[in-house]
Amino acid sequence: MKIAKVTDLKDNEMKEVSVNGKSILLINSSGKFYAVDSRCSHRHLPLVKGKVDGNIITCPYHGSQFNIVDGTVVHGPAAKPLKTYYVNIQGDDIEIGE
Ligand code: FES
Repeated sequence: MKIAKVTDLKDNEMKEVSVNGKSILLINSSGKFYAVDSRCSHRHLPLVKGKVDGNIITCPYHGSQFNIVDGTVVHGPAAKPLKTYYVNIQGDDIEIGE
């Protein structure tokens, strides 16, 4: 499913997109695209206000860190991983799937 264009996000920029009623965070990390749940698994607050550095996203609220490649928790207080989504680039289009 096409959800955005690669030109929609600058390097290290993030954007929330709605796909089938789910809110997903699309991330451009130095030219590579990733998609994860848009809400932190700690208190379900929006990760879009956080920061991405390489493969790590940091939640701005209590500092949890997750690996955006596989969703694992790198640093608490979050205990549960983030769901990740498959990202495929087709020309200028970004597609995602489960
Ligand atoms: S809501 Fe993200 S660390 Fe608490």
